Amino acid sequence: MTRSAQETFFRAFHASHPAATSRIFSGGQNTGGRSSYELLRDEIAGAGRVLDLACGDGFLLDLLAAAGHQAVGLDLSSTDLALAKQRSATVVEGRAQQLPFADHAFDAGVSHMAFMLMTDIDQVAAELARVLRPGGQLSLVLSGTSGTADRGEARTLFGKLLRETLSEVPAEQRLSPLGDKRTRTRAGLDEILGAAGFGPVQWRTEEIDFSGSLDQVWDFVSSVYNLFPLSAAASSALKTAFYTEAPALARPDGRIPLVFPIHLASTRTVHKGQ
Ligand SMILES: C[S@@+](CC[C@H](N)C(=O)[O-])C[C@H]1O[C@@H](n2cnc3c(N)ncnc32)[C@H](O)[C@@H]1O
Repeated sequence: MTRSAQETFFRAFHASHPAATSRIFSGGQNTGGRSSYELLRDEIAGAGRVLDLACGDGFLLDLLAAAGHQAVGLDLSSTDLALAKQRSATVVEGRAQQLPFADHAFDAGVSHMAFMLMTDIDQVAAELARVLRPGGQLSLVLSGTSGTADRGEARTLFGKLLRETLSEVPAEQRLSPLGDKRTRTRAGLDEILGAAGFGPVQWRTEEIDFSGSLDQVWDFVSSVYNLFPLSAAASSALKTAFYTEAPALARPDGRIPLVFPIHLASTRTVHKGQ
């Protein structure tokens, strides 16, 4: 997908699914009881001025403000930014590839579930390096993959059913892959961020638990971008297949397991002269 086609897609998706990401992700927890937003907030403890890149509806901006940071958000979805403004967050409409901020304007940058979706990622990294102060921290929450190994949980099942559905629909109902593959590995991120002036990436993986009722796990898995271009008939057939197969995964307490791995990646801009 071209850059502008992808950005048009994001605007359209988020206009029809306001606050889609925070509604889903605020409900998950790692084994220590933290959501992926809280894990990201905790990564940059102590930083003063913080940029939340691709802030969506501002859920993380609220957490950052409550923790005492001066947080500013940027996103290209005017729908989600309107929701962020209702939270009294400071937000700017714009593109990550061309940040409307002065050099060294921030002590830290964060981005939750967005960096791996962006086009021209080398340009985004260069812009982040420019707007962070020397030694400023960048921390990212990136989507991990469940893979195809059957772990008896809902996301793997959904992935299998989605692949089956996509193999049967016309090409125009299939979303082209979003983002840059290198963002999916530590080595790839080192390549992107190193070239932009960041030091080596610290990387860890956390499993976030979104287990719940059948309706709750469907709500989670069906929020993916890939469902948006599907016809109503194909979506409905996928839902029927999921509702048929997922109950067999339920634990004795009736909850259906759903595990979403995330990567937490952190680095700092390298001081000039180092
Ligand atoms: C999955 S949502 C995550 C939103 C928010 N960070 C959260 O986790 O609640 C991805 C966000 O990235 C934004 N986005 C994608 N490409 C962008 C770009 N080039 N510049 C700014 N925002 C972008 C979308 O508009 C969308 O709000």
